[in-house]
Amino acid sequence: MTNTTCYPVRVTPRFPGSVMADTVATLRAAGCVYAEDEATVLVDAAADRAMLAAMVRRRTDGEPLELVVGYADFCGVRVRVRPGVFIPRVRSELLVRLGSAAARATPAAVVVDLCCGSGALGMAVTAQAPQSVLYAADRDPIAVACARDNLGSRVYQGDLYTALPTRLRGRVDVLLANVPYVATEHLGLLPAEAREYESHAALDGGADGLDVFRRVVVGAPRWLAPGGVVLSEVSESQAGAAVAAVRGAGLHADVASDDDLEATVVVGRRYGAP
Ligand SMILES: C[S@@+](CC[C@H](N)C(=O)[O-])C[C@H]1O[C@@H](n2cnc3c(N)ncnc32)[C@H](O)[C@@H]1O
Repeated sequence: MTNTTCYPVRVTPRFPGSVMADTVATLRAAGCVYAEDEATVLVDAAADRAMLAAMVRRRTDGEPLELVVGYADFCGVRVRVRPGVFIPRVRSELLVRLGSAAARATPAAVVVDLCCGSGALGMAVTAQAPQSVLYAADRDPIAVACARDNLGSRVYQGDLYTALPTRLRGRVDVLLANVPYVATEHLGLLPAEAREYESHAALDGGADGLDVFRRVVVGAPRWLAPGGVVLSEVSESQAGAAVAAVRGAGLHADVASDDDLEATVVVGRRYGAP
């Protein structure tokens, strides 16, 4: 499994122990690094032995575990995923941590999950800041359908801000924007699971990876409330250029990082009292 979503380890009584051992052995033989954890997830998700065998086959054929079982466990929430949608990454826990702290600081905070994919980030932030009001948007119809599975209403389709209701202008307290940020020339270096099962548009950030990010920050001052923040994950090497873009848009810029998660988040804050 190439992405690092964590799964709870549970003992399931549905199958005898030998089934679990066989599943682990099959996954290990196919090169799965986290064979025990993955076997637990598959055994837990399968209704019977035939279903388990089919799921194990899909997994050993290279399909991401999350697509095989139909969900990803992310930051304490279970996110439904559909084929083609971006699978939430564990490193995005940093975005969720920062976003939920900002959302909790404002009563009834307006949170927008722009480029929402499955809606995982918005779902996790609102789980941690339940008084906030979430809106989400994505350009990809598959992502929008998936986000609606997870979030229900207030999921919009369109290019960045054009998808959002105009009444949100100047009212957004927390703008989560986990945009595509892989430089085009680096796409070929991504793990096969990402290259083969996620849409190009979910990954490709243009020549230096920051094309979509720059468009987001240029538009952010118009949509953020005074004191509101835009939060975007970037690579460590992109942080300097990302900060320059945030400052260029007239926002205060900060960088947060988490070495364990190998995550870097650029924070842009609109000046003015919250
Ligand atoms: C890296 S994925 C992140 C998905 C989700 N936020 C997450 O972290 O799991 C980027 C998402 O941005 C969407 N996207 C790319 N360009 C976009 C645009 N111009 N307008 C809206 N969404 C866009 C893609 O469809 C994809 O779902």
